[in-house]
Amino acid sequence: MTEPDIKKGLAGVVVDYTAISKVNPETNSLLYRGYPVQELAATQPFEAVAYLLWNGELPDAEQLAQLRLTERAHRAIPDDVRTTIDLVPLDAHPMDEVRTAVSLIGARDLAGTGSVLDASGSAEQNLERSIRLFAVLPAIVAYGQRRRRGLPPVAPRDDLDYAANFLWMTFGEEADEVVVDAFNRSMILYGEHSFNASTFTARVITSTLSDLYSAVVGAIGALKGPLHGGANEAVLHIFDEIGTADNVGPWLDQALAEKRKIMGFGHRVYKRGDSRVPTMKAALDTLVEHYDRPDVAALYDTLESEFVARKGIYPNLDYPSGPAYNLIGFDTETFTPLFVAARVTGWTAHIMEQLASNALIRPLSEYNGPDERHIDGYVADTAALAVADRAEEAAG
Ligand code: COA
Repeated sequence: MTEPDIKKGLAGVVVDYTAISKVNPETNSLLYRGYPVQELAATQPFEAVAYLLWNGELPDAEQLAQLRLTERAHRAIPDDVRTTIDLVPLDAHPMDEVRTAVSLIGARDLAGTGSVLDASGSAEQNLERSIRLFAVLPAIVAYGQRRRRGLPPVAPRDDLDYAANFLWMTFGEEADEVVVDAFNRSMILYGEHSFNASTFTARVITSTLSDLYSAVVGAIGALKGPLHGGANEAVLHIFDEIGTADNVGPWLDQALAEKRKIMGFGHRVYKRGDSRVPTMKAALDTLVEHYDRPDVAALYDTLESEFVARKGIYPNLDYPSGPAYNLIGFDTETFTPLFVAARVTGWTAHIMEQLASNALIRPLSEYNGPDERHIDGYVADTAALAVADRAEEAAG
């Protein structure tokens, strides 16, 4: 018997076309709808990049103003969603809180829309749903952090752009321009990354013609894992463990001897460095200077150079974004929810693309369990056997 060619983890398998982003590990580049992500991060507000991911083109001034108007109108958490968030235990992971909130938002929105046959919705409805989720997620994430710190929620401000308002709702004070800029860049860099695990999860769910919210809830579940979005949080735990730059060598000796994975390094697609890292590292450098924390830069640089020298494995985006979010003042467990707020743009763009040219995603597997066997004393159902025989005859 010939061995089947199994691509464990779907590694290297091209599953479908996408016009949303292009990851090119050869040239170490990432394009959103054709634009290099570095250029977008340096020149655009996140709202414009969201528009680009959804619509294929950057907005003109009027289109951006219209999107901002809608986004600002949907920033507040509905009361019943907030009450439900309050039911999530304070010591649950905030990703569970975000997942629960999105699930309820979906149930509220879809209530009364009829049978499951109508679940997937029209392109217009899904774009509207995407904008509303994009608009409300910052308030959910900010509220989560404040709730865990025993602080009251801060209402959104409609005179601030997306990134500035996000920081306002989290910290209750206006952030400096340099902080807003670094945060905006991180959101853009996290926005989209082709068929990664959470996006593929969203596409699988969408391919059954389920609804957009179910797909986003599933994607949040996939993103939570430390091999995917959870890595930005894990990087900070590693930094905390190591302490200072002079402890990197002994810490790394022991971690590698124990065959630990060093979070924030390595990537399934990029093998010679993640295209997003230089932009995020530059943003981290501005924050290091702003907060006067050269110790963070020293730890970052030492761990990177020692790990690359020993293993030849390079940092991914989570490596610079973890310490950047820490410097801004986000709690470590809030990092992956920040990733959700950004990646919801990519997920929803993919959900709409999948629906526009859908095929049910249903791969095959090669069975390697026990040979056929039978329950002692079982008497075959003769009627069922007759049906099976007729089917076999008909099949020839
Ligand atoms: N630390 C230590 N070793 C690592 C490593 C890391 N971060 N990433 C990869 N490796 C090693 C593996 O142990 C494996 O070694 P082996 O061949 O001796 O067993 C080899 O490199 C290949 O790794 P593998 O996990 O099979 O590759 P992959 O393509 O499936 O992995 C990741 C990609 C992202 C899952 C992996 O690099 C990883 O777990 N990184 C840490 C988590 C992380 O930062 N995730 C965010 C991704 S954006």
